[in-house]
Amino acid sequence: MTKINPQAQSLNETIKSISPKVLNLLSDRGKNIFFPSKGILGQSAEAKGKKINATIGIALENDGTPMRLNSVVSQFSVPPEESLPYAPSPGNPSLREVWKDMIYKKNPSLDGIEISRPIVGSALTHSLSICGYLFVNESDKIITPDLYWGNYRLMFVNAFNAQMDTYPTFKDNGFNIDGLKEKISGPKGKKIVILNFPNNPTGYTPTDKEAEKIKEVFLESAEAGNEIVALIDDAYFGLVYESGVITESIFTKLANLHENILAVKVDGATKEDYVWGFRVGFITFGIKGATAELYKCLEDKTAGAIRGNISNSPNISQSILQKAYTSDTYKTEKNEKYNILKERYLKLRDILSSKDVYKHSFTALPFNSGYFMCIKINGADPEKVRQVLLEDYSTGVIATSGVIRIAFSATPIDFLEELFENIHQAVQKCQ
Ligand SMILES: Cc1ncc(COP(=O)(O)O)c(C=O)c1O
Repeated sequence: MTKINPQAQSLNETIKSISPKVLNLLSDRGKNIFFPSKGILGQSAEAKGKKINATIGIALENDGTPMRLNSVVSQFSVPPEESLPYAPSPGNPSLREVWKDMIYKKNPSLDGIEISRPIVGSALTHSLSICGYLFVNESDKIITPDLYWGNYRLMFVNAFNAQMDTYPTFKDNGFNIDGLKEKISGPKGKKIVILNFPNNPTGYTPTDKEAEKIKEVFLESAEAGNEIVALIDDAYFGLVYESGVITESIFTKLANLHENILAVKVDGATKEDYVWGFRVGFITFGIKGATAELYKCLEDKTAGAIRGNISNSPNISQSILQKAYTSDTYKTEKNEKYNILKERYLKLRDILSSKDVYKHSFTALPFNSGYFMCIKINGADPEKVRQVLLEDYSTGVIATSGVIRIAFSATPIDFLEELFENIHQAVQKCQ
């Protein structure tokens, strides 16, 4: 490692003075990173509003507006000033404020709890990868249920040489709290834990009771002296279809729980607002005893990691979302789409309960939320079943981790019956 930059050193000293635990939780990269407030960015900021500003690395027309090609801008109505220039590395400031406000509105239990200002990443994959940058050292273990989104391996194992440390996802048809407990109360030290609800691939979100137990397990571990980063992947936030299941993020339970637990909420517009290709996500911190200064240091480190990685996230997407979130019709539109997905979920439940014969082919794993559900195939190889579905039934599903994942989010309601009948037939062929 090169010698630590004085700006990084200063952030580390401030962090240490407020929360030595947070400093311990940072990776070597996380300790070394800082947002370069001096240099080009600082000089550009000082020149803002001057008559002649020859600092910024974009091109302007002779009338001072962003230089642009008509073949590009004729395709959209977002003004050039709000779409073409770079967004700041931490993200569009108004969007950050709006998102923070939305986090509080969507999670009323956070009332009275201070959280950081969300930093904008290029959607959740990038935001999680930035969390890897900030918190994951070589050989660190990443604790997760065994049914997890496979891309975590590329992010944490391939990129940062960490190891996935899994426990069985379900126990007694519910979330395996004991499995989680065993992992986070293991040998004392730093723990990195991923919680992803609604989960990909299973479509499972804990019940109110389970979430309370998850909280207890974290608290016990923290009280025993473990220092924990909880990476909370809220990609599918808001898509819960059953009562008795948590509708708020598990972040609400951890963000102010203990000085040894740094909760990191990673969420975004991708799945929640149906803008997969926009590439806008957010990273937000919560820890008991935090001050505004501690959060500012973490925000600076996160923005620095982003600056050195992709520089900043798409401006046009941020501008569009900022306006959408403050639009009068946003909430109604969201409800309409939620209802479409919920109808499919209910239809699916109906199919599963009415077609007794399917039990000879597959068993559904617990699910109650999100975009997906999984089935365990009886007496046949899921990959073989997938191939037969493709070849003989013109049907595509994902075979992963010994199960088949079905994206009902992507299946029009009128195809659901046929989809399950096809799976049943394909399994029968393979058994
Ligand atoms: C659990 C989970 N987290 C994160 C993501 C990544 O989302 P994004 O497209 O915002 O990078 C996905 C996408 O499939 C996901 O399933």
